[in-house]
Amino acid sequence: MVKIIMHGCNGYMGQVISGLVEKDPGAQIVAGIDIADNGNNSYPVYTKAEDCQEEADVIVDFSSAKAVDALLDYSVNRQIPVVVCTTGLSEEQLKKVEEASQKVAVLKSANMSLGINTLLKLIQDAAKVLATAGFDMEIVERHHRLKLDAPSGTALALADSLNEAMDGKYHYVFDRSQERRQREDLEIGISAVRGGTIVGDHEVIFAGPDEVIEFKHTAYSKAVFGKGAIEAAKFLKGKPAGKYDMSDVIG
Ligand SMILES: NC(=O)c1ccc[n+]([C@@H]2O[C@H](COP(=O)([O-])OP(=O)(O)OC[C@H]3O[C@@H](n4cnc5c(N)ncnc54)[C@H](O)[C@@H]3O)[C@@H](O)[C@H]2O)c1
Repeated sequence: MVKIIMHGCNGYMGQVISGLVEKDPGAQIVAGIDIADNGNNSYPVYTKAEDCQEEADVIVDFSSAKAVDALLDYSVNRQIPVVVCTTGLSEEQLKKVEEASQKVAVLKSANMSLGINTLLKLIQDAAKVLATAGFDMEIVERHHRLKLDAPSGTALALADSLNEAMDGKYHYVFDRSQERRQREDLEIGISAVRGGTIVGDHEVIFAGPDEVIEFKHTAYSKAVFGKGAIEAAKFLKGKPAGKYDMSDVIG
């Protein structure tokens, strides 16, 4: 049983995780931390982290980048491992994550879905065979109409994973409308589609002479991130100081 402090407990993801944990005999939220509290949780909620002194195995964080510095200090001071899921951290904050990970276990991932993290591994094997044989690699991502950034951080992570498998020889092309030219060998094209309420689709296409292989991940709800975060918390319980990511959870 992993005992969790839920940081950002009253946000969208905090509530998703609260619902998932209620049905999971292997996890329990012992306390929540959030700047706003409506009193509607089955566990105590603290508006100041320092007031939260419950015994816990892991902190799970889905809050705001502004909250992450204080979160890391809290995690180090209390020696409780932390799963950092909040995105949009500055370079300085990423450095602080590194520093904290020398004193306590820190797992950080921009995409907590087990499916995407498995895909990141699978496409490396595919790239080594197919890109080496001359297949072109393209990524297409689709998200809801409210998403501000394009391409998605996950599409970039997929491209980085492909490129890493190919010893970093490739470069990325985001917009083919500006130049009239044929495709080059060592490029990974990344295209973004925005519309409706699509939670998140990512396709990795290997297009070769006369055959095409496609890998596709579809997120039907944000619960996939919550499930991954709970798996990460179970994994991180009792781990020594160090920096971890979802590839460690998948094994
Ligand atoms: N890694 C992933 O897979 C993944 C998936 C979904 C969302 N996210 C990220 O998680 C974060 C939260 O997402 P969300 O949709 O739940 O957002 P949200 O805005 O619904 O919830 C954030 C919560 O954090 C609370 N909060 C803000 N400042 C705080 C502070 N100083 N201390 C404690 N709590 C504080 C807010 O009051 C709010 O309840 C975002 O950065 C989002 O991009 C990551």
